[in-house]
Amino acid sequence: MIRWQRVAILGLGLIGSSLARVLKNQGLAVEVIAAGSRLANLQRGVELGVIDGYTHSLLEAVDGADLVVLAMPVGSMRCGFEAIRQVWSRGQRPIVTDVGSVKGAVVGMAVEVMGEWPSTFVPGHPIAGSERSGVEAGSADLFRRHKVILTPGPDTDACALERIQALWRLSGAEVLQMPVEDHDRILAKTSHLPHILAFSLVDSLARESENLEIFRYAAGGFRDFTRIAGSDPRMWHDIALANRSAILDAIQLFRVGLDRLEAAIAECDSAALEQTFERAKKARDHFSFMLASTAYAKTGNIMTEYHVQPGGCVRGTIRVPGDKSISHRSIMLGALAEGMTRIEGFLEGEDALATLQAFRDMGVRIDGPEQGRVDVYGVGLNGLRAPEQPLYLGNSGTSMRLLSGILAAQSFSSVLTGDDSLSRRPMERIAAPLRLMGARIDSTGDRGTPPLRIHGGQMLRGMEYSLPMASAQVKSGLLLAGLWAQGATTIHEPAPTRDHTERMLRGFGCAVDVGPGWARVQGGQRLQATSIDVPADISSAAFFMVAASIAPDSDIVLEHVGINPTRTGVIDILRLMGARIDIMNMREAAGEPVADLRVQSAPLQGIEIPGHLVPLAIDEFPVLFVAAACAQGETILRGAEELRVKESDRIQVMADGLQKLGIEAVPMPDGMVIRGGSLGSGRVDSHGDHRIAMSFTVAALRAEGTIEISDCANVATSFPGFAQLAQRAGIAVQVVEHNES
Ligand code: S3P
Repeated sequence: MIRWQRVAILGLGLIGSSLARVLKNQGLAVEVIAAGSRLANLQRGVELGVIDGYTHSLLEAVDGADLVVLAMPVGSMRCGFEAIRQVWSRGQRPIVTDVGSVKGAVVGMAVEVMGEWPSTFVPGHPIAGSERSGVEAGSADLFRRHKVILTPGPDTDACALERIQALWRLSGAEVLQMPVEDHDRILAKTSHLPHILAFSLVDSLARESENLEIFRYAAGGFRDFTRIAGSDPRMWHDIALANRSAILDAIQLFRVGLDRLEAAIAECDSAALEQTFERAKKARDHFSFMLASTAYAKTGNIMTEYHVQPGGCVRGTIRVPGDKSISHRSIMLGALAEGMTRIEGFLEGEDALATLQAFRDMGVRIDGPEQGRVDVYGVGLNGLRAPEQPLYLGNSGTSMRLLSGILAAQSFSSVLTGDDSLSRRPMERIAAPLRLMGARIDSTGDRGTPPLRIHGGQMLRGMEYSLPMASAQVKSGLLLAGLWAQGATTIHEPAPTRDHTERMLRGFGCAVDVGPGWARVQGGQRLQATSIDVPADISSAAFFMVAASIAPDSDIVLEHVGINPTRTGVIDILRLMGARIDIMNMREAAGEPVADLRVQSAPLQGIEIPGHLVPLAIDEFPVLFVAAACAQGETILRGAEELRVKESDRIQVMADGLQKLGIEAVPMPDGMVIRGGSLGSGRVDSHGDHRIAMSFTVAALRAEGTIEISDCANVATSFPGFAQLAQRAGIAVQVVEHNES
């Protein structure tokens, strides 16, 4: 489809020529004309078929064009606008965009030359540059999977914006929008500062008398760090001056950090060095996953599979990792409290780490985790700082829903994003009631899904709200928002759900009233730091409860498991099926009941699962379905439609897997009927859902042959070290990694 008649590309460098290739290759323009000063480069453009013609005159190029792309160094863009002004005065209204790394200065030039910000000018910045330049360096694929930031103004023509967005999308880029000032401040730190540092390091070394010797021995680190010092000097000269004040701020920020490191080295302060390097490494790892839009566990194209040999039993004494729900909340409340909160037993899984990183991104100092210990230096209810980038929450629904409540009440705006699975999950369930409290939230995905854009500076009002579904995440998000709201926030729930938020708020000295089916907080309370001992996660323990129940000769003790009555549905359901579970050494840890659980094998019977237990076992159904497959007779689950909107559609995905293994499993809209039988062997797809992957691992204990499970990397979101612990307990699981084909 042809979209443009005549496109003028002013500047046929790496970016300009790549965009010209996109236009030509996809037939998006009848004619692409370039203007530039280097004749050989322009001629080469024609030879390569990248452009249809060229001129040295900007005016000639722009005249009659319906799209003008300013792709020259930022310092020269003024001449481009002058040419545009001339055709503008003749009544021509081309759509104009630019590709400069600085936006404020370019808009400033447009305003100076044209007298106002032309309504058809859509400033843009493809973040796809490299140290290479010239028409030869360009490629039609340059923008694929890169980000393009557009910074339209309040009066930008909607149709012009839409057409520029469409153009970049066709180039394969992901298109984002942000205000001009945000762009310049962020890019000063993430792009301009690194370039300045690379130029400076190479220049400083080059000045040394023995420079040749130095460069000869310069190894990988130097090469990686200074690659961008090979970039076009003229272009970077222009950027340095055009974004001067933001770059000076960034240099100052860097200097403070460098001084701190210098002092630590001078004083042989190992702790400071270790903490700095550790924090930086964690942030860098997080950042890599964020860029790849994956949960944290996946690296590159490596796919993780589990291959599980049949048979065996589980024995011994084990402690599964910390509770995921409590770990999330401990970071959140610790960050919002006054003083330092020490957490022990923190789950170092990717979901809880996403929450931890989000608060670091909002300026909270958090040390650790180190063997489950985390120190959170609370900033108080009003001490969070605006994150500079969207907060990336990986696979974690809990992070997104609870953070929505917290962020709705802040003075600053924020954006919440996640991986592919999280990007498909419903967020209106939290956004809609928060709006009733006065929040401004856009769920910008297709169907009320992420990214969530939360507008700061809103005054929240307390409210009385009845949840349409049993959801602890929504209840918690609303109660947390209630901390900042005027008056009381009372949440009614249709069935009891986990109450960790209510309990932990009390632990932080905040009054929470609860009654049958409701919880209430008053706004304006403060949180006082405390210490938290996170119990082992009953949802992780559940895999071993089912394993021990179904595998003959099993006898396992699961230590220090959280047995909060809003979480123990799995114990009740398994006991109804005939399981032998002893609850021993009941005690309390930081406001939560804990116990050691002894589970021995027992013949299981199919049951109709009582409706009131469904929300109390909501995360355990995948593995309970495995128990049902090994039980005698039929197990029926109803009233569990929530399972369809978890990390995967857990009803469909489990039914598919069980059927593949020869079990009669009939999915229903809100549950499943499973007839116990004998599990065969085969390959099942976990759909990247951690609990599905672990459930089929357990199923192998009773299978006739090997079970292969694909897409298992996300197990690390809730249960890091699962495969090793399962092996130790007696399950013959092997982790196999291979390149995605
Ligand atoms: C959670 C609540 C549940 C649960 C999730 C953790 C929490 O989700 O499935 O794993 O920590 O509040 P819903 O509230 O959506 O049921």
